[in-house]
Amino acid sequence: MFKPEGANSLLMIPGPTPVAAEILAALSEPTVAHTSAGLAAIIQRCQAGIRSVAGTDNAEVFLFAGSGTLAQEAAVVNLVPPGEQLLVVANGYFGDRFRDIAEAHGLEVDHLSAEPGKSVSAEELDARLERSRATTVTLTHVDTATGVAAPLAELIRVAKRHDALVIVDAVCSLGGMPIAMDEWGIDVVLSGAQKALGVPPGLVILAVSKAAMERRRSIKRVPSYYADLLNWEASMHDPKQYFSTHAVNLFYALDVALQRIADEGLAARIVRHDAMSKSFRAGMAALGFRPMTERAVLAPTLSVLAYPRGLEDQPFRDALAARGVIAAGCLGPWKGIGVRFGHMGNTSMGDIETGLRAVEEVAGRDGAVAAAPADRAEAARG
Ligand SMILES: Cc1ncc(COP(=O)(O)O)c(C=O)c1O
Repeated sequence: MFKPEGANSLLMIPGPTPVAAEILAALSEPTVAHTSAGLAAIIQRCQAGIRSVAGTDNAEVFLFAGSGTLAQEAAVVNLVPPGEQLLVVANGYFGDRFRDIAEAHGLEVDHLSAEPGKSVSAEELDARLERSRATTVTLTHVDTATGVAAPLAELIRVAKRHDALVIVDAVCSLGGMPIAMDEWGIDVVLSGAQKALGVPPGLVILAVSKAAMERRRSIKRVPSYYADLLNWEASMHDPKQYFSTHAVNLFYALDVALQRIADEGLAARIVRHDAMSKSFRAGMAALGFRPMTERAVLAPTLSVLAYPRGLEDQPFRDALAARGVIAAGCLGPWKGIGVRFGHMGNTSMGDIETGLRAVEEVAGRDGAVAAAPADRAEAARG
């Protein structure tokens, strides 16, 4: 039988995250017709489940095949009219991606970025919006490169005071952290399936406010066909209507995952994420790994940790992988200096203990790496 290499490893990268057996089993059910009433009912249940985790009664939910980046792109092209400015508020690599997307479409962008490991503050955003022409703002709830959780409610309050529409990238938070879309006044919550929701990658998730839909309708033509929300609208109101083939089996998986979230209770799930992050970081601190993220903005869904002296990135992660635990390297300026571990979605406290045990075996209590000679690590650091 088909089995990919690494299938028995514990995924502790910050997405994709481990997929529970029940969700995997749903994926392997027979593929039904994409316009059938049965699938439509499943998609509608998924839309209701997404509304519930995003904290909205009013938003239209769009679910279609693609990745988180496509969700970002769809939000930008549907909300930012040519000639108006987008303000990108970035706490790392994934925040910056909004700027790249807007520039790829020739849209006008202003960019406000935080120092590495910190978040842009409400005061900084206010000052920028005082002198900006931006009518739309992007915020990243958790930047998966820096592990920064933005003070979302505060930032949104400021953006709203300046009458901007607000796009929130919740790729690394939806399903693991509180999001109150209606209460906070978010216009688009976007996500993917593969992080705190615990589904394999492949779905674009967008919850879109009435004001955001009005903005889309006011734009004559957006620079995308597949990601144009008006093309999807009829199919999302009645999933039996065809626009583009639904990702049938991924909806089975999302349906089961959302039911599991309902069974666990969102509040309990959020508490679990907090507990897992605290427990993991305490264990890692005892092994010499310190957060690279400022303490006040540490995300509960992942940890970005600096290597203690004597540890080198690739040999450390290779040795960990040999023990069945997969961690991710850092991105951008932190590449090689730190390591990223996800703890979200279906990850359990037992998995946290397994991860810590493997790190302890590799790094040892004094931070001396078993797999990489210390002199090589020293050389790499200069
Ligand atoms: C916060 C955030 N936004 C966007 C993305 C892009 O998503 P994808 O890799 O699914 O295209 C990621 C991916 O890790 C992410 O963490």
